[in-house]
Amino acid sequence: MVAETDEMSVAGYLCLKQVLDEAEILDVAVDLRARGRGVGRALVNWAASFCREHAVGVLALEVRVGNLEAISLYESMGFREVGRRRKYYENGDDAILMDLNIGETEECDAV
Ligand SMILES: CC(C)(COP(=O)(O)OP(=O)(O)OC[C@H]1O[C@@H](n2cnc3c(N)ncnc32)[C@H](O)[C@@H]1OP(=O)(O)O)[C@@H](O)C(=O)NCCC(=O)NCCS
Repeated sequence: MVAETDEMSVAGYLCLKQVLDEAEILDVAVDLRARGRGVGRALVNWAASFCREHAVGVLALEVRVGNLEAISLYESMGFREVGRRRKYYENGDDAILMDLNIGETEECDAV
């Protein structure tokens, strides 16, 4: 999914993988100039809506332990930490594994 500005340039994107009743956000990023305006939340909302429409039960992702902006976004949307990959990143940072149980979420129109 690609989010575009009014001028049709890319404001952000989200890459989603679905396998049967599970899905994973492989990547999500918003252009520096477009951050803080709800684009990231809209993209993750789109992923949750996709899961709801396709009978996906769990939406998963992993995020670097120090990525406070992303962790804040995910927690505010109901994602919960379910595990860690120790020293997953090249600099030794852990990866936090997070899940969103789709059945516990509500439809959101902000996409
Ligand atoms: C994480 C990212 C996608 C958020 O995108 P965004 O469009 O700026 O986010 P939004 O404007 O939709 O904000 C949604 C929530 O994110 C969190 N957030 C966003 N910017 C934040 C900041 N600077 N500090 C703390 N929390 C922040 C807040 O919880 C915010 O909710 P609020 O507006 O109610 O406070 C963006 O910062 C980004 O592209 N980061 C680099 C790539 C990355 O780290 N991707 C995640 C990989 S797991």
